[in-house]
Amino acid sequence: MKYIVTGGAGFIGSNIVKKLAARGDKVTVIDNLNTGKEENLELVRDKITFLNDTILNMDLLEKETKGIDGIFHQAALASVQDSFSKPEEYHDVNVNGTENILKLAKKYNFKVVYASSSSVYGNPEKIPISELDSKNPINPYAKTKLKKEELAKKYSKIGVKVIGLRYFNVFGKGQSKEYAGVLKLFLERIRDQLPPKINGDGTQFRDFVYVEDVADANIMSMDSDVDHEFFNVGTNTSITILNLAKTIIKSAELNIEPIFGPALKGDVQKTIANIDLIKEKIGWKPTVFLEEWINEIISMKKFDEI
Ligand SMILES: NC(=O)c1ccc[n+]([C@@H]2O[C@H](COP(=O)([O-])OP(=O)(O)OC[C@H]3O[C@@H](n4cnc5c(N)ncnc54)[C@H](O)[C@@H]3O)[C@@H](O)[C@H]2O)c1
Repeated sequence: MKYIVTGGAGFIGSNIVKKLAARGDKVTVIDNLNTGKEENLELVRDKITFLNDTILNMDLLEKETKGIDGIFHQAALASVQDSFSKPEEYHDVNVNGTENILKLAKKYNFKVVYASSSSVYGNPEKIPISELDSKNPINPYAKTKLKKEELAKKYSKIGVKVIGLRYFNVFGKGQSKEYAGVLKLFLERIRDQLPPKINGDGTQFRDFVYVEDVADANIMSMDSDVDHEFFNVGTNTSITILNLAKTIIKSAELNIEPIFGPALKGDVQKTIANIDLIKEKIGWKPTVFLEEWINEIISMKKFDEI
């Protein structure tokens, strides 16, 4: 099959690309290397086509999408803190960029699986969070993710096959600062034998989901006969940031205590996913859990993998 992965040089996109290439699919990556890195694709570079370009280049998209089977759309501006100062740029790339892809999906009849985010829920009214729960995004980045969902709904009504995956906090090798930043920062401090620094009181909790599991959720969604849906992609487990710090300290066998700093603006208090829908409809479930990964990184001293 022939696919495009936008944002394919990024953390999640590159994991999708590697899995597609391994099963023999023909893959084109469109990524302007804003936050992505070509080295993320080192292992598959000779098996794929890499285009250093933007999803705002409609001429390029028009040319590349003719005859493809689907797009895994991961490209986005994805920093919550950054989005407060650049709301228009975020809207342009995230919303207009997505509409470009949906327009072409209608024209050339291919399926779209794209990255939404648990941030569309904002501070949830109840946990675990189910797909139909209310959406109250609390920062400009999350608002663009909700607008993308509105577009996906609109285009699905005119026959476009489009699945939005609401990722929770994705972790794994090369994880991005934005979502698993806390994990990355804690592990870097521990590597240097320094105490982890917590923003706020540490009672906020998160559902961390492994990047290769997220890549599988994308591919299984594309392969499935589901035409239109939004799925939570999490683990239905969660950890408080304070416990995360303690787990890492314990695993490293250090005699230190975490330190605390001010809370971050736009940070949600708690996330934990209900994942019944994705289990039932496409048979996906998580296979790697945070604590075992942390233990492996620390016990094997694989700090280059964070
Ligand atoms: N990592 C997470 O925990 C998480 C959680 C929820 C949602 N998401 C979403 O998943 C997607 C992938 O995120 P990631 O964590 O891999 O981050 P990432 O920054 O590694 O990946 C985003 C990629 O998009 C590329 N990009 C940005 N603007 C572009 C443009 N105009 N044209 C082409 N490429 C462009 C970047 O260069 C980068 O390679 C994003 O849509 C993000 O919003 C991620």
